[in-house]
Amino acid sequence: MKYSWQHEGLTADQKAEIVLNEMTEEEKFSWLSAPMAIPMGDEPLPEGAIGSAAYYPAIPRLGIPAMQQSDASLGVSALGNVRPGDNATALASSLLLASTFNPQMAQLTGELVGREAFAKGFNVQLAGGANLIREPRGGRNFEYLSEDPLLTGVMAGHSVRGIQSQHVVSTIKHFAVNAQETGRVVVSSDLDEAAMRESDLLAFEIANEIGQPGAVMPGYNLINGEWASENDFLLNKVLKGDWQYPGWVMSDWGATHSAAKAALAGLDVQSGSNLDSQVWFDQPLRKAVARGEVSQGRIDEMVRRILRSLFAVGAVEHPATPFGPIDYMAHRLTAQREAEQGIVLLKNENHSLPLKKGAKKLLVVGGHADHGVLAGGGSSAVTPVGSLRLPGINFMGIETEKVFQPSSPLWAIRAESNAAEVLFAHGNDVAEAVRLAREADAVIVFADEWRSEALDAQGLELDAEKNHLISRLAAENLLTVVVLETGGPVTLPWLDNVPAVLEAWYPGSGGGEAIAGVLFGRVNPSGKLPVTFPASEQQLPHPEQVDPATTTSLPGSPVKGGIIHVDYNVEGSDVGYRWHARTGQAPLFPFGFGLSYTEFTYNDLQVRADGESVYVTLTVQNIGDRAGAEIPQIYLHPASKSYVPRLAAFERVDLQAGESKTLTLRLEPRVIANWDSDEGLWRIEGGNYVVIAAKNACAPILQANIAIKPRRFGY
Ligand code: GLC
Repeated sequence: MKYSWQHEGLTADQKAEIVLNEMTEEEKFSWLSAPMAIPMGDEPLPEGAIGSAAYYPAIPRLGIPAMQQSDASLGVSALGNVRPGDNATALASSLLLASTFNPQMAQLTGELVGREAFAKGFNVQLAGGANLIREPRGGRNFEYLSEDPLLTGVMAGHSVRGIQSQHVVSTIKHFAVNAQETGRVVVSSDLDEAAMRESDLLAFEIANEIGQPGAVMPGYNLINGEWASENDFLLNKVLKGDWQYPGWVMSDWGATHSAAKAALAGLDVQSGSNLDSQVWFDQPLRKAVARGEVSQGRIDEMVRRILRSLFAVGAVEHPATPFGPIDYMAHRLTAQREAEQGIVLLKNENHSLPLKKGAKKLLVVGGHADHGVLAGGGSSAVTPVGSLRLPGINFMGIETEKVFQPSSPLWAIRAESNAAEVLFAHGNDVAEAVRLAREADAVIVFADEWRSEALDAQGLELDAEKNHLISRLAAENLLTVVVLETGGPVTLPWLDNVPAVLEAWYPGSGGGEAIAGVLFGRVNPSGKLPVTFPASEQQLPHPEQVDPATTTSLPGSPVKGGIIHVDYNVEGSDVGYRWHARTGQAPLFPFGFGLSYTEFTYNDLQVRADGESVYVTLTVQNIGDRAGAEIPQIYLHPASKSYVPRLAAFERVDLQAGESKTLTLRLEPRVIANWDSDEGLWRIEGGNYVVIAAKNACAPILQANIAIKPRRFGY
């Protein structure tokens, strides 16, 4: 045994305590702040850094490895092309993952990310994006999962669990209510506690329980006027207090605003310190300790939290080392399976899909489909070798490109369709595309919509040129199929004029093959929308977007002292489908919607209260002629309708033709309950509740009543 922490039978916390007691003050402070480990300007890469978001030095005499931190949820990214030529598997966007409603897929793809990170030498993955999609036009919605707290929490938690199973710490981020990107560093998300606990915080709470992430990352925004990275209510009261969170809180990169205040509010590490006004967690913090403003015990706690998280995932005993083996072929197939499960069939008039194989001539148009599939921009962008990189935006002083990942739908369609001829048109020459469409048996047109970190979509429309192209093609060929590659909900003005529409989101390294598989029937689509598609922006709780560039100058601007306040109390915890239910607005496509090439029936809904839990049993049958997957959703509301229906359980079930299965689902008590801010606990009002088995938020199939006893529970 070489190191004192190597005694048999010690817990992660005990090992952390041993190491902490052997560390010098210098070694402790070397872990409390660090610059971005990407060469910026004339700042070279820190000695020992692989080249990624962050590097913290090893403590060799104690057997503690360096911390090499990389982004993010969708694979191992290389921001600023910091590791030229480095390959990585690109998972589909988190929106697509959530569309699978499959926690096992979240865990499987999390394992993939963890395996690749570990083999590249990274022991911290800045993953676990779990913000609720409050703002459908949000620039990073592709990195988040859903508008619903239960779906978000379950999927994020399983993804984090998968990553950490590979001896890599995962974060969960951006804590909390980080709903928009434009002006993200000056926006205060204003939301009362009860609504926050029942929505954004519930997503993080469930994800934290399931995944036990080693670290939490607050966002750039403020919450109720306090910076997320120094928000005592969120970090000390909720996270470390109520939830007893044992890991460490790292700021976002360039999101630290003080030393003592932040340290006392619960921040443990200043990340990306070279992007801040100063390295708060070095000299200013040391001085605060010397003045007695911050105790040495608090400094020790910061380091202890890091150490125990590293030990908890086995990152010390199993140090990640670069250039380990990666089976990219197997990983690409996993990415394809994920995409196959998450593509959503939005429209399929007269069974236009699946397309017949062996056509004489097919035409594929747009979306750089000859090259690959679109990915979202920013720190999460994974760039497999062979990616097409186009100009994107500059943020944090780093160029982030518009990337098409090398999984060509055109070539996959050529392989899958057995068509005699499959032509391709870029789509920028509309006349040429229309001429080719005239002679084709079918047209497959791609509508790509790029979104990025630091930049919200402006409105819900696709580019006008894309809408025009689709309309012209649809007028020319009755079998014009639209494949959307979007970063969130969009409006579809030509919807009535096309027979079929797929939402493929950003489908990752197996996306082209997955799209082709659905189009020609090898794959039976089963994805369900994790976000509502509004019919228009007017349906939103905030029809006008908050744009700092314009908002500041408007009369009556919500800007106070350079901070822009967005009042999310308008909708409160009724985000997405709950807002549509509250306001009685029919969306374009509801939350949970998705078609299949087969049909399912629901029967025998039973509800029973068992002690403190409520269970539902339901029989689902596949009455079609081919295998498929269905995702029954269980919603609930008090018979008195004191709140709108909330998703309280869901399950993905695979069924062969004719097969039926009886499912048993437990309803999440915190969805049944409301938060009582006065008493600081969850309260279930006793009485009658309506339990609904539905195909989506607007398609109830069966319902039953249940009497639930009143109860209060908390921390
Ligand atoms: C970014 C993101 C964060 C990411 C970090 C490191 O600005 O907000 O999600 O992990 O910086 O790249």
